[in-house]
Amino acid sequence: MKPRKQVKPKAGSDFERFVKSLGVHNPPDTGTRPLNKREFRRIENSPELLKTHYNAFASNYARSLYSRFLRVEEHELKIISSKVEFRPDERIVSVGSGPAIKDAFIAKQLVKDGRITCIDFAHNMGREAKKTAEKAGVANLSVVTGDASKLPLASGSQDKVMALQTNIPNTVSWVPFLKEARRVLKKTPNSRLVLTFISDNKAETRRALDVLKASGFIAVDAIKYAQAGSQEAVLLVAKPRLAAYY
Ligand SMILES: C[S@@+](CC[C@H](N)C(=O)[O-])C[C@H]1O[C@@H](n2cnc3c(N)ncnc32)[C@H](O)[C@@H]1O
Repeated sequence: MKPRKQVKPKAGSDFERFVKSLGVHNPPDTGTRPLNKREFRRIENSPELLKTHYNAFASNYARSLYSRFLRVEEHELKIISSKVEFRPDERIVSVGSGPAIKDAFIAKQLVKDGRITCIDFAHNMGREAKKTAEKAGVANLSVVTGDASKLPLASGSQDKVMALQTNIPNTVSWVPFLKEARRVLKKTPNSRLVLTFISDNKAETRRALDVLKASGFIAVDAIKYAQAGSQEAVLLVAKPRLAAYY
C-alpha cells in the first residue's frame, strides 16, 4: 500500500508570526465579549454608546479577535496589499485603529521610513495601540484619541487614510468622516482612501459607495472579500477627485 502523504503544518506567515510575537493569539480569560449583530445595530448610530462599548472592550479586543479570526485578518491584509500600493516613506492615518495590530505590522514591514498615525475615539483603544507599538518595537506609529469626524491633522498631509473594520460607513459619522478624509489627503493621483467594513448586503454597500462618490471620491476598487451569513466584508479603495480642487 502506498504510504499516505504526510500533511505538514503550514509554515506561519509573517503576519501570523507578528501576531504571535505580540501574544494576542490566545483567547482572553474573562471580560467584555463582542456584541452580536442585533446588539451592535442598536448602538451603532450613537457615538457615545459605541465609545462606551469600545472603551470597555479594549483590553480584550485583540485577543477576542486574533484567537478566532487570525486567518480572516491575514486574508484582509493580503487583499489590501494586493490592491493598494504602500510606499516606504508614506504618511498614513488609520482611523478607528483599535489596538492597531495591522497598523503596527504595516508600519514595521511596509512603510518603514514613513509614519502611521492611529486615531480612535475610545481612549482605552489608544492605550492598547501604544502597548502594541511598544511590544512590536515600532517607532513610526503615533497614537491619538480623536473622532473620525474631526481629524486632528493638517490639510493635505496624508498619502492614505485607512479605516479598517470600522462600522463608520453605516453610521452618522460617514459623511463627516469622508469630508475630513478628503481634507487631510494629499491631492495627488496616488492618494488613497482604504476602507474595510461589514455590510449587511449589496444595497448597503452601494449606498456607502454613492455617498463616497457624492463626497468627492472616485472608487478604484470595491471588493467583497468574505461573507458571513447575510453580511459581507467589503474593501473599498478610492481616490480624491482632483478636479474638485483645481
Ligand atoms: C472593530 S474595531 C477595528 C479596529 C482595527 N481597525 C481593526 O481592524 O482591528 C473599530 C474601532 O473603531 C473605533 N471607532 C468607531 N467609530 C469611530 C469614530 N467615529 N471615530 C473614531 N474611532 C471610531 C472604535 O472605537 C474601535 O476601536
